[in-house]
Amino acid sequence: MLQRLEQQSPDALLALIKLYNADDRPSKIDLGVGVYRTADGATPVFAAIKGAERRLVDDQPSKAYLGPEGDMGFVTALVPHIFGDTAPADGRLDGMQTPGGTGAVRLALALAKRAGARRVLMGTPSWPNHAQIVSDLELEVVGFSHAADNGRADMAALRSALGDADEKDVVLLHGCCHNPTGVDYTNDEWDEIAGLLAQSPVLPVIDLAYQGLGDGMEEDAYGLRAVAGRVDEVLVAYSCDKNFGLYRDRVGAFYVLTGDPAATTRVVSNAAALARANWSMPPDHGGAAVRVVLDDEALTAQWLEELAAMRGRIAQVRERLASANHAGAVDLEPLGRQKGMFAMLPVNKEQVQMLRDDHAIYMAGSGRINVAGLTMGNIDTFVSALAEVAAN
Ligand code: LMR
Repeated sequence: MLQRLEQQSPDALLALIKLYNADDRPSKIDLGVGVYRTADGATPVFAAIKGAERRLVDDQPSKAYLGPEGDMGFVTALVPHIFGDTAPADGRLDGMQTPGGTGAVRLALALAKRAGARRVLMGTPSWPNHAQIVSDLELEVVGFSHAADNGRADMAALRSALGDADEKDVVLLHGCCHNPTGVDYTNDEWDEIAGLLAQSPVLPVIDLAYQGLGDGMEEDAYGLRAVAGRVDEVLVAYSCDKNFGLYRDRVGAFYVLTGDPAATTRVVSNAAALARANWSMPPDHGGAAVRVVLDDEALTAQWLEELAAMRGRIAQVRERLASANHAGAVDLEPLGRQKGMFAMLPVNKEQVQMLRDDHAIYMAGSGRINVAGLTMGNIDTFVSALAEVAAN
């Protein structure tokens, strides 16, 4: 039977990790997969997480199973950070832990399918795994342009996509720090989107994978809260990979908010059944470490400080790129107005390959760079390499 399977190419973004590691040129620059790097190019474990892990080693009483919903202390501790004042305490909001943000996106879309969804509207380009998850679930992707030529979000395209949608449609929105373009909706635009969604039969799914890496924890939740405050139903996929630096520990959460506690209970019962059939229970360690951080004032303050330092460094690199005046044909100025880890450069596949072959600079084939891979020590090399390949 297995003979019938066709060979698949490896995931292009994850394959870059191996290509980069195998390159022995000391000057190599990794702008591929989205991991934060310090000014020294390292991706250390947060000190707040280390502190929490030490406590877990000393105090964790057991590693017995918790259930498909995972660590509900973790899920609940995140709620005020994500939902702020829009979090109701009457049972209309509930959630569960998932294996990373990917697990949460998968769960949200699988639930939507169970509830009758057929199509997923999404701004393009998007995180490539979004479309992979949608098609693996045998749902249809309906793309609309995410970023307009003026470097702002393409609201006209979103308005039109929502205008044409019906009750079998889901719209998948990035809560902040859009991956891959870095082009976010403004607060006014989010207010308009919330109003449109309130009038529409479409189910919003908000993927919030980079909270705190744009303008701040509160600021980056503006869109989600605007939508949550206006609509009857919303699903949220949350990731702690970046803002707690827990990447390989796979720490995510799924939330559902509806207008009726009984409906929320029914949704969560379906989510628990899907989780059980897919991964049974999420991995515990990373979520437990986040819970310990969030339950402790000093560790929370330390985490927020570490997160602010990350955000500051990303903003600094963006400013420096935006003011670089020797990138030849490549205009880096828009990067100064964008948010988060990612930006799309106007380079083609051949130029991406030249950057890799001739300059040991690794980025996704789409031209997406992880801004956090640049440091004050390698930024000039990067900018002049870009100018050189763009001139070809
Ligand atoms: C990225 O887009 O680089 C990250 O979200 C990592 C991933 O899983 O793709």
